[in-house]
Amino acid sequence: MRTQVAIIGAGPAGLFLGHLLKQAGVDAVILERKDRDYVEGRVRAGVLEQITVDLMERLGLGERMRREGLVHGGTNLASDGEVFRIDMAELTGGSTVMVYGQQEVMKDLFDAAEARGVNIVFDADQVRPHDIDTDKPYVTWRKDGVEQRLDCDFIAGCDGYHGVSRAAIPADVLKTFERVYPFGWLGILTEAPPCDHELIYSNHERGFALASMRSPTRSRYYLQCSLDDRIEDWPDERFWDEISIRLGPDAASRIVRAPSFEKSIAPLRSFVTEPMRHGRLFLAGDAAHIVPPTGAKGMNLAVSDVVMLSEALSEYFQEGSAAGIDGYSARALARVWKAERFSWWFTSLTHRFPDRDGFDRKMQIAELDYIKGSRAAQVTLAENYVGLPLV
Ligand code: FAD
Ligand code: DHB
Repeated sequence: MRTQVAIIGAGPAGLFLGHLLKQAGVDAVILERKDRDYVEGRVRAGVLEQITVDLMERLGLGERMRREGLVHGGTNLASDGEVFRIDMAELTGGSTVMVYGQQEVMKDLFDAAEARGVNIVFDADQVRPHDIDTDKPYVTWRKDGVEQRLDCDFIAGCDGYHGVSRAAIPADVLKTFERVYPFGWLGILTEAPPCDHELIYSNHERGFALASMRSPTRSRYYLQCSLDDRIEDWPDERFWDEISIRLGPDAASRIVRAPSFEKSIAPLRSFVTEPMRHGRLFLAGDAAHIVPPTGAKGMNLAVSDVVMLSEALSEYFQEGSAAGIDGYSARALARVWKAERFSWWFTSLTHRFPDRDGFDRKMQIAELDYIKGSRAAQVTLAENYVGLPLV
């Protein structure tokens, strides 16, 4: 088999890239280790930046999102139970975010992939990129026990943090930068109306809490937890008691304590690998970088990477110019590092760090108080939260 671009991974990065290349008339095949239900079923991102909303529209996939998604022009910060609102739309000249779950985005992308003939191979075992240093790279995998091979011009590694693509780049070429946080997020989904019409990010002396949502009837809540905690340590009643304390009495009075139907713990990490290209292999999304979830940036960064990568590849195949592919890594990383900075800062501002003392806590409270009283500080937060432009 032969194609122009072999894409490893059918998460948001791989699927958006597949659609973008299809639209540009570039031939691509996506190789995914799991099946559709698995990829679509993972409960992850909830907040789309304007660039992601725009991309859904540009691909002609905005119809259900426009109908079912929730446009948020503001978000709330809470400090020891006292809530104040950041009016993002007013502060940024009209920018907003969209609450529309990653699961819904994936459903729309998979449905359209089928309809438009975007080529996806599911259940591809032992996917391996080869000869990435040459101009004849190829990918092998096993399907139903049979070895397969795909020759291509380029490989796009969109296979997430644990994928094979980053590992295929020689270790002496890659530089990695990392910060591991000494806590996790315990998240639940519940079939009940949210406690507020917008999100609440809360800094409490007992730890961070976040009230989010998926729809007017489905709530998503997160609690900062210890890395030693297990799901069994957090029966629903304990979760509701704790989040009620951390969000404060006003929000707590509106929490509907319905049974959770999903509960999971995620570790928090900042991670960037440079460069995002080696030879004929490009990295995009979580394969190249991870942010702690606090700023809601992970999936949106995967989107900005593949928008840039698709532009570069289209330029190569349509105009015969290598300028775009040569500039891809530097261009993508410039935006990645700004999102890394924001996610690190927002995490540092809102979480309780076990190794820090009373002084650090006073710094957090002072900064939250400063943001509350300073339009300049609010503009900085708002323009990062809604997402920086693609340049
Ligand atoms: P992934 O989603 O990891 O997809 C990679 C794909 O590659 C997977 O389907 C995997 O099966 C496949 N794969 C892996 N290895 C191989 C292999 N060897 N061969 C073939 N296929 C392979 N982001 C936001 O923007 N906003 C949010 O509000 C937000 N909230 C989050 C909340 C939580 C609790 C978590 C955990 C994450 C959150 N994120 C958020 C982050 C977001 O979910 C990720 O950044 C996003 O999924 C990255 O997409 P990706 O396609 O790069 O990687
Ligand atoms: C959600 C996740 C986030 O990381 C965030 O900052 C906001 C919302 C969510 O899953 O709803």
